[in-house]
Amino acid sequence: MATKRVFNFNPGPAVLPLPVLTKAQEEMLDYKGTGMSVMEISHRSKAFAAIIQTAEADLRELLGIPANYKVLFLQGGASMQFAMLPMNLLPAGASADYILTGSWGKKAFDEAAKLGTVRAAATVKATNFDHVPSQSELNLDPKAAYLHFTSNETIQGVEYFTEPIPPAGVPLVCDASSDFISHPIDVSKYGIIYAGAQKNAGPAGVAIIIAREDLVEKAPDSLPVILNYKTHAADGSLYNTPPCFSIYIVGLVLKWAKELGGLEAVAKRNHAKADMIYEAIDKSGGFYKGHAKPESRSMMNVTFRLPNEQLEEQFPSEAKKRDLIGLKGHRSVGGIRASIYNAMPVEGTEALVQFMKEFQQKNGLIPSCPFHHAWYNVAAFHRRRRHLC
Ligand SMILES: Cc1ncc(COP(=O)(O)O)c(C=O)c1O
Repeated sequence: MATKRVFNFNPGPAVLPLPVLTKAQEEMLDYKGTGMSVMEISHRSKAFAAIIQTAEADLRELLGIPANYKVLFLQGGASMQFAMLPMNLLPAGASADYILTGSWGKKAFDEAAKLGTVRAAATVKATNFDHVPSQSELNLDPKAAYLHFTSNETIQGVEYFTEPIPPAGVPLVCDASSDFISHPIDVSKYGIIYAGAQKNAGPAGVAIIIAREDLVEKAPDSLPVILNYKTHAADGSLYNTPPCFSIYIVGLVLKWAKELGGLEAVAKRNHAKADMIYEAIDKSGGFYKGHAKPESRSMMNVTFRLPNEQLEEQFPSEAKKRDLIGLKGHRSVGGIRASIYNAMPVEGTEALVQFMKEFQQKNGLIPSCPFHHAWYNVAAFHRRRRHLC
């Protein structure tokens, strides 16, 4: 039976590159002559050492990670980093700054508030998180233990294109879960970057942490061993059994990104895909309305509304019949969210744009006759025109 593949617009776990899945399938039963699957080999074996070390080397190459940064592969997802970060870097008596640009930034802030003193350096809640604040809007503490921001808000679909600048000496910390390795960054501007893998970098089960060595060293010894960055940095992420299979897939994804031409090429492709959808929104005459302000529009999660909730229900369910999956927006924004991570093929966004046009043609709203201040469905309008006007 032919294998069915859909265009998967889910926000995460999300689409993976087909060549990665095929490679994993080829190696599933016998990983490089071991006679075992990666799921069955020891995390202390030579075979797994090569997997984790190659993944780290490829990530270092792709992102240009300087030598004074550690790379960790940990369990617990990005959510565990919401807690681990203040446990490690926010001592009693200190305070950390958080920029609240959406649901995830808020979650990181709330979690840290349970463990120490935090301040909101800015919040965009008043406009339902529709943009990222400019540098001049930030109220920064020059003595903060760190400044935390979320480079891409997966739910609201707003993204940073240049990092916020912390006061001198304040480390910049980034939750990069949903735009990790989607474009080049200058890692040396950051103290810590963390990301759950399940959007751009691989399957669920592993979070990747890139941490400057001097910050790792600050972790207090009183912490539980498993929650201390020092433990994992000292043991090469092998203090306990790591999520071996997830790390292996991350490794394959990194090779795939390198083969695409590295992060410049990946970013160019991502822009082309996102531009296609934003153009369809902008040219729809108001039928589709983007949630994010144009200057903050995410290249990863495109969020938009339709004229009414009924159409917003209809859109994803009709799209599904065309094998366009996972388009329903998060309830806090409503409408539609198209997640178009690195692995979404260009054909996927083309198919979505074509569907958007057809959906609008079928259901598009145009002003009714001058006697009716309502809007009518185009088809219904044409059907009724003779009677109405
Ligand atoms: C930006 C961002 N941060 C954090 C998380 C939470 O990640 P995890 O489920 O790996 O804990 C998500 C999940 O969607 C996310 O999009």
